[in-house]
Amino acid sequence: MRKTCHPSRFVADVINRVPPSGIRRYFDLASEIDDAISLGVGEPDFVTPWHIREACIHSLECGETSYTSNYGLMELREEISKSFSGKYNISYNPESEILVTSGVSEALDVAIRSITNPGDEIIIPQPSYVAYVPSVMFAGGVPVPVMNSIENNFRLLPEDLEAAITDKTKALILNYPNNPTGATMSRKDLEAIADVVAEHDIMVISDEVYDCLTYNGGHTCFSSLEGMRDRTILLNGFSKAYAMTGFRLAFAMAPPEIIASMMLIHQYCMLCAPIIAQLGAIEALRNGQTEMEKMVRDYDRRRHLIVSGLNKIGLDCFEPKGAFYAFPSVKNTGLSSEEFAERLLFEQKVVTIPGNVFGEAGNGFLRCSYATSMQEIEEALARIEAFVDGL
Ligand SMILES: Cc1ncc(COP(=O)(O)O)c(C=O)c1O
Repeated sequence: MRKTCHPSRFVADVINRVPPSGIRRYFDLASEIDDAISLGVGEPDFVTPWHIREACIHSLECGETSYTSNYGLMELREEISKSFSGKYNISYNPESEILVTSGVSEALDVAIRSITNPGDEIIIPQPSYVAYVPSVMFAGGVPVPVMNSIENNFRLLPEDLEAAITDKTKALILNYPNNPTGATMSRKDLEAIADVVAEHDIMVISDEVYDCLTYNGGHTCFSSLEGMRDRTILLNGFSKAYAMTGFRLAFAMAPPEIIASMMLIHQYCMLCAPIIAQLGAIEALRNGQTEMEKMVRDYDRRRHLIVSGLNKIGLDCFEPKGAFYAFPSVKNTGLSSEEFAERLLFEQKVVTIPGNVFGEAGNGFLRCSYATSMQEIEEALARIEAFVDGL
């Protein structure tokens, strides 16, 4: 008789240390409930604009089905480079400073792995996007949370950053506009962070996937600040701005030494991003501005509706100036984030995400995505009001 296999014995220790995504749990719960309204998903409700889909269909008809360069199509890298020099007056060499990836998700993983030695500390301001902490752990690094607070509109303060830095600190992960809070940081705010980063000689991974989704004031690209270009790995992609989540397409921009190390990992784990998506992305950058701006105007209308609605209900909600999330406080209901979200789901069939899923700093808050129609938002607000009134 051969020995019985216990598969769980083979799972790496780090996997057991990483808690499962709290977001998934809510989607699983919600999937069991009929006609639930979802303010849960961080995904545009728009279908990818037709001209982008058409470009992809056309490319398939022409038989463009091969691998591309590991770095991504040169034509796409040139368009990305042009777009960033136009938007932020910053220049990246398409030959050596841009890597096309399968989503910011891959870019993030590869960026962290390319700079992290075992035990290196990576600072993560929280509340934070759910992938940051696990990605650092998978790379053998140590995630160091910094608590951002509502009192500072969820901006990272230079003194809080400074206090978290040790001689093991390797990098800071910045994410503005922010998921889950919708917070943004002004140029002045970011300059203060840049001072600390330079003083302590650390890298920055700046996830700016929501850069096109800002309201009331533009976006400052972190690597465009004086002295920051060479210590920043800038991540961006097509999922949010162009409603292209299913294309899985994004890119990293950084100095050649960093892109070369990221490339070493990417070429073995991904080889290259899908060619169809890359061709769609070229079309998005060349001709997608008008449609994208239309979607942003729609998000802005929804933003006003949800923020004023939540405040009227008595759930204090600071004004999110970017991305497509509102982050109201539920503290004055006496319920925890989890109790509120779970009861709201079962009693009124509205899916939201409890803020603590994004780290301890999110305790007492709720993430409500407004990437859904005005009618759905109105109905969700009515249900939330009925729930709060019934408490
Ligand atoms: C802050 C942030 N970064 C990265 C991602 C992942 O983006 P992608 O679809 O490009 O992998 C998301 C998706 O929600 C996000 O909110």
